[in-house]
Amino acid sequence: MTSEKVPLVLDKDAWHPSVLPGQIVLVSTVDSDGEPNVAPKSWITMAAFAGPILAFGCNKEHTTYRNVLATGEFVVNIPGEPLADRAWEMARHHGLQRLEKSGLTLKPAAKVAAPMVEECRAHLECVLDSVKEFGDEVLIFGRIVAGSIDASCLEGGPPEQYFALRPIFFLEEGYYGSLDTAKRAGAPWPTEQAHFVVAIGRHDDVVRETVEHHVEYLQTLRRRGSLWMAGPSSTQETAAANLRLGDLSGMYVLRASSLKAAEAVVQQDPLVAAGAPVSVRAWTRTF
Ligand SMILES: Cc1cc2nc3c(=O)[nH]c(=O)nc-3n(C[C@H](O)[C@H](O)[C@H](O)COP(=O)(O)O)c2cc1C
Repeated sequence: MTSEKVPLVLDKDAWHPSVLPGQIVLVSTVDSDGEPNVAPKSWITMAAFAGPILAFGCNKEHTTYRNVLATGEFVVNIPGEPLADRAWEMARHHGLQRLEKSGLTLKPAAKVAAPMVEECRAHLECVLDSVKEFGDEVLIFGRIVAGSIDASCLEGGPPEQYFALRPIFFLEEGYYGSLDTAKRAGAPWPTEQAHFVVAIGRHDDVVRETVEHHVEYLQTLRRRGSLWMAGPSSTQETAAANLRLGDLSGMYVLRASSLKAAEAVVQQDPLVAAGAPVSVRAWTRTF
């Protein structure tokens, strides 16, 4: 489907939606006295394999830029989605007060004096390569000299790994997006994939431990990308009870290659294994 093209004004702040979302990172630096600073940035990109070199855009008035010029070092910390709100909150304060209010933990980096932000999931330690000026702003090029990542982000294949990393992207002021899975190029679109609605009924003999195992099992499926959504039904709010859905305790939607494959996944659900009644129904996702 094509659409009529309309001109975009040449002012990024006026783009709604922004056509160039940027990954949100926390750049940590120290000044020449060793005082640390951490600031959110989102104009960031890899610039060259050889080096490797990355680059980020920064206002010349920012402490980050001053510190990078003074020490020639910085760390690019990669926050996961749980830190998204904090990134915006941080920009409202400055210096040590910002650090204190953020509640973030700084720890020494391996090769540079700038600290790492422990709560972030990956860290790229950089030494200053060069700076390109554009009016009030600069593009800072850094050579990555060391890197580290949470071991939990390395488990499983790409869907699990990106689910664990869950990077966030600046869309426009006050809005971010997150990436929580990896789609293999060439794989069917979500609307072309086979989905199965799994409805689980109440079962009096189920103990809390079984429910916990059930939740863990669903989390594993979610990380693998084969679970789309899941949750318990609310006993308090049951409108349209006359639909006779039965005593539903919860529901989830699976992606699977066939009904048989979906049933095999459902049979391993600890709740089902404990005897909870279940129905698995092929479902077509239209939107
Ligand atoms: C999500 C987010 C992304 C941001 N991205 C950038 C950026 O790419 N470049 C920039 O100069 N400022 C960016 N800012 C604004 C700075 O973080 C903000 O001006 C901050 O006060 C600068 O801190 P500093 O003086 O300690 O470096 C961003 C702010 C937020 C909340």
